Amino acid sequence: MNPLPADLREPIERASGTLGPFGRRVLWYPEIGSTNDVASTLAERGEPEGTVIVADAQTAGRGRLGRTWASPGGAGLYLSIILRPDPSFAGLVTLAAGVAVAEGIERATGLPVVLKWPNDVYVEGRKLAGILAEAVSSFAVVLGIGINVLPAAYPQDVAARATSLETELGRAVDRGAVLAECLVAFALRYDDLRSTRSADVVRAWKARAAATFGRRVAWESSGVQLEGIAQGVDGDGALLVQTPQGMLRIISGEVRWI
Ligand code: BTN
Repeated sequence: MNPLPADLREPIERASGTLGPFGRRVLWYPEIGSTNDVASTLAERGEPEGTVIVADAQTAGRGRLGRTWASPGGAGLYLSIILRPDPSFAGLVTLAAGVAVAEGIERATGLPVVLKWPNDVYVEGRKLAGILAEAVSSFAVVLGIGINVLPAAYPQDVAARATSLETELGRAVDRGAVLAECLVAFALRYDDLRSTRSADVVRAWKARAAATFGRRVAWESSGVQLEGIAQGVDGDGALLVQTPQGMLRIISGEVRWI
């Protein structure tokens, strides 16, 4: 097994008392196809909840909706967490992850960030981080998190829509501190879900996404183009959109903010 590099190992060790199950086993790969794929394989073999897979580079990083997630070496944080959530709150894991990544980034760097449904992390209209949750079986969920640390993390053709921690802050960023704070924040938010405090997670998510409510969104449903005004999320994390047909709930898929 590859040893974690010191810049990641030390902050994780310092935070170990507050990481819950998420600091017990952190596996490191200098280069891998996709951390989500490694995590899925391990989960299928019975790996317990909490194992974290981190890579320096991914050669087949995946984003939502079949997109590619560019993952050049050392330019971003690329990690996946194995979860075995109770079905009663499994649907809220991605919202909890969005809140935790936003909180972890802010705590580690001081950079204020907002959320856009379902769980994109933005700074002033540019995407900084994304989350890809995938069900492995009825018993496991793999939560993939990608955070742009350097501008080299994303291709130049998306530079108008993407950003990185170092671009925003104009200084070097300690990626180990960001990783550790995101895991600490996720441990707390996951505990909220487990301890029937889901309402706190939804409230925190809404507060971070407030700027996106009242905005017009468009999406496709069964080949039909629909539009409406985003109103918020419900207790299950679905996006509520006011349309001429009434209030609609969007559970997943692509929403364009227009
Ligand atoms: C998105 O499209 O916004 C989600 C991006 C998720 C990227 C992360 S990087 C670590 C993990 N492994 C992957 O292949 N994807 C996720």
